[in-house]
Amino acid sequence: MTFLVHTYGCQMNVRDTEAVSMLLERHGLQPAATEAEADVLIVNSCSVRGKAEDKAIGKLGIMAATKRERPDRIVGVMGCMVQRLQTELFKRVDGLDFAVGPRRFARIPALLERVASGERHLLDIGIGDEDIESLAGHEEGAVTAFVNILLGCDRRCAYCIVPDVRGPEWSRPADGIIAEVNSLVRAGVKEVTLLGQSVMRYGLGNPVWSAMAPSSPRGYAEPFVRLLEAINDQTPLARLRFTSSHPSGCTAELAAAMRDLPAACPHLHLPLQSGSDPVLQRMRRGYTAASYLEALRRLRDAVPALAVTTDIIVGFPGETDDDFERTRECMEAAGFDNAFIFKYSPRPGTPAADWEDDVPEEEKRRRNQVLLEDQDRRGLRLNERLVGATLEVLAEGESQRNAERWSGRSDTNKIVIFEPEAGCSIGDLVKVRIERAMPQTLYGERQKVYSPQENREHKD
Ligand code: 5AD
Ligand code: SF4
Repeated sequence: MTFLVHTYGCQMNVRDTEAVSMLLERHGLQPAATEAEADVLIVNSCSVRGKAEDKAIGKLGIMAATKRERPDRIVGVMGCMVQRLQTELFKRVDGLDFAVGPRRFARIPALLERVASGERHLLDIGIGDEDIESLAGHEEGAVTAFVNILLGCDRRCAYCIVPDVRGPEWSRPADGIIAEVNSLVRAGVKEVTLLGQSVMRYGLGNPVWSAMAPSSPRGYAEPFVRLLEAINDQTPLARLRFTSSHPSGCTAELAAAMRDLPAACPHLHLPLQSGSDPVLQRMRRGYTAASYLEALRRLRDAVPALAVTTDIIVGFPGETDDDFERTRECMEAAGFDNAFIFKYSPRPGTPAADWEDDVPEEEKRRRNQVLLEDQDRRGLRLNERLVGATLEVLAEGESQRNAERWSGRSDTNKIVIFEPEAGCSIGDLVKVRIERAMPQTLYGERQKVYSPQENREHKD
C-alpha cells in the first residue's frame, strides 16, 4: 500500500506529517510519488482561520470523490480540524473513512487496519495518553529538522482556537528530546527548531527532568532555558532555534542563554499581534506594547545581532484606525526583520467570536496591504545594512529559481542566495559575503566552509 499526506497549516503540522509518514513506513506502507497513485490519502488539517478549514474540506471532497472509481482507496483526515468538527466531518465529506485528532496520531496505523477490514467513519480524538516517542522519526537526508517539545497551549488568547483543538500544555520529557536531537545530528542534521505553541512554557506543568538529570552547569533555573543548555552541552548540534514565543518568557535568563550558548541562533519569532493596548487587552495577550518592547530590549541588549520576526492580526473586533496606527508604530519601534500578517477570522467557540466582526473585509485587506508594504521597506532597510558583512549560511541546496545558485539560511534565519564553490555540499556551513539585499532575501558570494565544530569554536 502507498500513502500520501497533504499538509495545511503551521510548522507543527509539517512536523506531524513527517512523523506520521515515518510511522506509516515503519508499518510497511510506502510513500506514493503522486496523489493519483496513493492507496491511502490523508489531509493534515489546520483550524486557525476559517479559510484553512475550507481548503482542507474542499481537498478531502476531491480525494473522496475518486473512491467512486477506486473503492479500495482509504481517505482520512488528521489534525486540528478533527478535534473541532469531530463527527460533523463525516457529514461534510462523503466517503471519508477516518478522522484522527492532534494528540492521537500514533494510532493511525491501527485505524488503517480497521478501515481495511471494512469499518467506516472511525473517529479517534482526545487527550491524555501522549505517545510522542513513537512519533520521533525523521526523513533521512535533511540538514534541518523540527523537534516537538511542548504539545497544546494554556494561554487562551481571545481569538485563538489552538487551545481547544490541541488541548492543554504537556511538556515532553527532556531525555527523549535530547536523544532525538542526537540521533538527528548523527544523521547529518545541522539545525534543529524546537516546536511548541509557546515554547518558553516548557516544563512549567508536568515534570520533564528524570531524577538522574544533572543540574544546570551555568546555574539556570527556568526549565526551557535548561533545555536549551542541555541540548547545547549534550549534543554536537551546530544550530538551535525555537518557535513560537511570548514576551513573558523573554527573561534575563533566556537572554543570557541566547548570548552564552554557542548553538543558540540569534533569531526569535515573537508574535506581537497588535501594537494597540486596548486591542491587546481584548485579545488577552497579557502584555502592553511598551512591555513587549521592553522584553525585546532585554534580548537585544544581550544579543545585539538578534533578528526578530512576528505575527500580526489585522481587523480584530473593534480595531479602529487609531489602533491600527499604533500597530504600525510598534512594528517600526520593534524593528522586525519579517512579519506574517493575518486578517482576523472568527473561530467558533473562542471569546472573540461572540464580538461583532466589525472591520469590513475590504478594510482588513487594506490594513494587511499597508503592513506588508511597511514591512518590505523596513526589511529592505535592515537587510541593506548587511551588505558587505560576512554571514554564516547553512547550505540547503540549489535555489528554486536558478539552479546555478544555492540557497540557505543565515543564523538570523534570513534566506541567502549564493554562488557555490566546487565541492560545496548540502549541510555545509559556509561563510557568505553579502553583496545585494532585497526585503526578504540576501544575495552574496560564498567564501569559506566551516565544519560544525569549527563553527562552534568560531562563535565561542
Ligand atoms: N484569525 C486570524 N489570525 C489568527 N491567528 C491565530 N488565530 C487567528 C484568527 N482567529 C494568527 C496569529 C498567530 C498565527 C499563527 O495565526 O497571528 O500567531
Ligand atoms: Fe493561540 Fe496564544 Fe496559544 Fe499562540 S499562544 S496558540 S496565539 S492561544
